Amino acid sequence: MKKACSATDPLWYKDAIIYELHVRAFADSNGDGIGDFQGLISKLDYLQDLGVTCLWLLPFFPSPLRDDGYDISDYCAVNPSYGTIDDFKQFLDAAHQRNMQVMIELVINHSSDQHPWFQRARLAPPGSPERNMYVWSDTDKLYEGVRIIFTDTEKSNWTWDPVANQYYWHRFFSHQPDLNFDNPAVMEEVLNAMRFWMDMGVDGLRLDAIPYLVERDGTSCENVPETHVLIKHIRSVMDAEYENRLILAEANMWPADVRPYFGDGDECQMAFHFPLMPRIYMALRQEDRLPITDIMAQTPDIPPTCQWGIFLRNHDELTLEMVTDDERDYMNLAYAADTRMRINVGIRRRLAPLMDNNRRRIELLNSLLLSMPGTPIMYYGDEIGMGDNIYLGDRNGVRTPMQWNSDRNAGFSRADPARLYFPVVMDPTYGYQSINVEAQQSDASSLLQWTRNMLALRKLFQVFGRGTLEFLAPDNRKILAYIRDYQSEDGTHSETVLCAANLSRFAQPVSLDLAKFAGRQPVEMLGYVPFPAVTDQPYPLTLAPYSFLWLELQPIVSNVVEPTEQQMEVPEP
Ligand code: BGC
Repeated sequence: MKKACSATDPLWYKDAIIYELHVRAFADSNGDGIGDFQGLISKLDYLQDLGVTCLWLLPFFPSPLRDDGYDISDYCAVNPSYGTIDDFKQFLDAAHQRNMQVMIELVINHSSDQHPWFQRARLAPPGSPERNMYVWSDTDKLYEGVRIIFTDTEKSNWTWDPVANQYYWHRFFSHQPDLNFDNPAVMEEVLNAMRFWMDMGVDGLRLDAIPYLVERDGTSCENVPETHVLIKHIRSVMDAEYENRLILAEANMWPADVRPYFGDGDECQMAFHFPLMPRIYMALRQEDRLPITDIMAQTPDIPPTCQWGIFLRNHDELTLEMVTDDERDYMNLAYAADTRMRINVGIRRRLAPLMDNNRRRIELLNSLLLSMPGTPIMYYGDEIGMGDNIYLGDRNGVRTPMQWNSDRNAGFSRADPARLYFPVVMDPTYGYQSINVEAQQSDASSLLQWTRNMLALRKLFQVFGRGTLEFLAPDNRKILAYIRDYQSEDGTHSETVLCAANLSRFAQPVSLDLAKFAGRQPVEMLGYVPFPAVTDQPYPLTLAPYSFLWLELQPIVSNVVEPTEQQMEVPEP
């Protein structure tokens, strides 16, 4: 008997809207300055009302927290700062009751050096099963030439351990030794952890840093064939024992290198589209759609059960690993003029500051997030336009407490402000007194209300999560225009949407070739406003600066929509 989960549709992730959050940053229920599961439970109504359908929790396991919890010292427990296993179960049930799925992290490339496995490994004799939980070598010349990921902190992927008298391998921080997947005991432990959380009803797992699981001499030690064998195994165990669960690959790679992580539909159902993200920012700054159309042209088809995960920002730096050197220089100049805004190969800023707090630009980028192919993944706080704190170390500037209201500590915690895990943002533009949930809830034109409306609109259609993509090629390259199209399998339902986005700071005219849709009735989707019918002639549109249009191309002209009562009340100019 397979164990069921909260989702009944096996492809639920295709229609999902994922919200990424850290328990520590969300809401503190006991006044110790650290967010916790009880705090998160108290905010589930907010998340449900916002309209997100799946919560992705950053690592909440016991950890020395030297990498925000990605340095795990126990895979099958909850960090006591955030609560207990019972608190987690209570949270999971409460999320499920609100029809929200829950995805957690399975960080299997590495553990913390404080994990008992590593502590035992150091003391165990070389070659013993205990020692072999990790990757050791007598020389730091093995796997020479493999790139370093955390370029700001690490000089080598090897660190000498004086207790073991050997070097150990780590692709990230030196306190995060890589697990050794050539030892079958490691896979057993991974499956134990997976079962531990899936038995409770967790719906999805984000597989962290998946390209680096296996090392092979003479290669880049990335994406090696053996890694795919391992992932297929994890997937097959998951499918054999559990129903409707999801694995999402974190593979920060070019599209062609990510493609194998979907396998033949037998590896990860989802993978992040890393290269698209910086190109959205580039297209905006260059006022040219080419970076977006170009990367999508390089994006291979994926199996029908699979899905891209698309995002604008997350808990890490805005990574610039998947761009050329010139593009990286451009992005740094355009978006991170102050070097404090940079870290490793990326930019550590939030969405609103990257957009210079320009509401139209923020909305434009969100319109792409919500209408490009894939499942959108939002980062907590971006729905209210939270700012960052570039004076905090590592990537912590984008991990500050959620801003709930203008009370002490932004309503996040009752603790003495000095006790908070990180200070709340306090500058005059993005500080909690100006940017907070409560204020935006009572402001009908706030970013929060806008986001809510957009999520509600997206959820009325399946085309965004499941439809095909076809770019139009109007002469004016400041306009990004594409058709999303969805036909249900049984042929009874079809949805066609034209999306047009003006990447320019000035108004733009555009003429679209919609001849193949001649006879269709475009209806603007936010206001349900009919536009002139499509003919075989070029279709002219004018777009205000940074504006976008979503037009549903309804089938028959005679079906002209009636204006709603609200629209009829709008006085004539
Ligand atoms: C996570 C990072 C983390 C790294 C190493 C990444 O994939 O997203 O936040 O620092 O793994 O654990």
